[in-house]
Amino acid sequence: MSFNVAIDGPAGAGKSTIARACAEKTGFLYVDTGAMYRAIGLYFLDQGIDIRDEEACREHLDEISVRIAYEEGLQQIYLNDENVSARIRTQEAGEAASVTSAYKAVREKLLELQRKTASENDVIMDGRDIGTTILPEAELKIYLTASSEERARRRYKELLEKGQEASLDDIQKEIEERDYRDMHREISPLKMAEDAVLVDSSDMTISEVTETIIALIEERKGEPAEEPACEQPEKNAERSTDKQPGKSAEQPTDEPAEKTPGNQRTNCRNEKQKERAAGA
Ligand code: DC
Repeated sequence: MSFNVAIDGPAGAGKSTIARACAEKTGFLYVDTGAMYRAIGLYFLDQGIDIRDEEACREHLDEISVRIAYEEGLQQIYLNDENVSARIRTQEAGEAASVTSAYKAVREKLLELQRKTASENDVIMDGRDIGTTILPEAELKIYLTASSEERARRRYKELLEKGQEASLDDIQKEIEERDYRDMHREISPLKMAEDAVLVDSSDMTISEVTETIIALIEERKGEPAEEPACEQPEKNAERSTDKQPGKSAEQPTDEPAEKTPGNQRTNCRNEKQKERAAGA
């Protein structure tokens, strides 16, 4: 049986960098589901289909084939046999993905591909609804976030380093608009799964976040009998109340978690793991 790790969170929280680093260390397959939505968004842009017209997008979905392949260890995205891995990385493709990923038919098209990949491989899959919808039985779920200010600063720095002009205010506004759209759509909105571990990367380095997640993977992969029991039920209960959708999913970026390890991770095993430990 495969071991699946779900990493969800808002745009710019560092999901793909972290997921890729964790995949490298564990040997798991890294699956970037955002890239799949971007490929579909790109098709609509290429064909001049109005991305705001749900019916038109739905009608053209059958013309689209999205495939992921791994070449020299790197995920490549093919759109109707064209490698679009570079072309999907534009602001426009991200915007088109954010708009059209709200459509039921678009989500249904990708659901099977994502589930099949996870059933056949140990994966670290990142996206928006992996822990809540695609892999509700994932062995480990992470909700990775950072304040919108910090995410905007990171993006701004990235663009300046590439020699591109940018406005920090505009970037933050775009990030907040994208968060709002991703969190408020009707189908599979971005929200933290109840049994996910919250990791706020605002004040953490990439290697700190990677190490935190690797430690969690190792803990969950360990023999159930050796796993620590739920140590602080009251504290965890409080944290999970903090993470109710209305609070954590709609405002996760404005409420950086405290940076103590206890607040970045939950020590309590989830119900599924408890059942396993009990031999179910
Ligand atoms: O992670 P990203 O920025 O590459 O994702 C682009 C868009 O795709 C994002 O704004 C929302 C959508 N998306 C989604 O709806 N569900 C996913 N599992 C992944 C991405």
